[in-house]
Amino acid sequence: MRNARRHLSVFLPLAFLGAAVVSADTPKLGEPAAPEVVAKWNSTIFPDGRGLPEGKGTVTEGRAIYDKKCSNCHGPEGRGETAEELAGNDVPLSDPDTSQTIGSYWPYATTLFDYTRRAMPMDAPGSLAPDEVYAVTAYLLQINGVITEADEMNAATLAKVRMPNRDGFTRIDAK
Ligand code: HEC
Repeated sequence: MRNARRHLSVFLPLAFLGAAVVSADTPKLGEPAAPEVVAKWNSTIFPDGRGLPEGKGTVTEGRAIYDKKCSNCHGPEGRGETAEELAGNDVPLSDPDTSQTIGSYWPYATTLFDYTRRAMPMDAPGSLAPDEVYAVTAYLLQINGVITEADEMNAATLAKVRMPNRDGFTRIDAK
């Protein structure tokens, strides 16, 4: 017992000394992020549409944005250039020669909005306004045959879109 107490009295000052040394050596990892920066990146959209912002866009508007800001990498109508194919796969996923496009693979349309908003165009991620993201999402869904030319995308309509491969995934956490 006496030994243990003596041990503690030696240890405590060392612990305080350690804390002082750590705070003096704190790595300089930047500065606190401003609330608007946090808000910009804290923008997760859930499969059921929770988190979708206000706004709307049509297929026609989306085509114009796509041709200007996306087709140089993804090709006209979503294929034929260096970046991922975004449309045009009519080979079943069970075939080894298939490709995983939005229409053949993605289970939720809301993910397309989230991904495009945070990551595309790859040379200027985060630069599209919500209306532009709705429009380009509408265009990509239309060229994949998921919605029609006349459909407008907004928080309500996008959340209701049923993707062709919605049931093509096996949930590993299913009971
Ligand atoms: C500078 C080139 C470039 C531009 C411009 C660009 N992309 Fe991409 N995009 C890519 C690359 C490369 C990938 C693959 C990224 C990866 O797999 O990590 C990609 C992936 C994607 C995907 C995911 C495809 C999939 O099935 O995995 C979508 C959707 C997408 N882009 C949409 C867009 C849209 C919409 C625009 C225009 C607003 C755009 N991209 C502009 C290069 C680009």
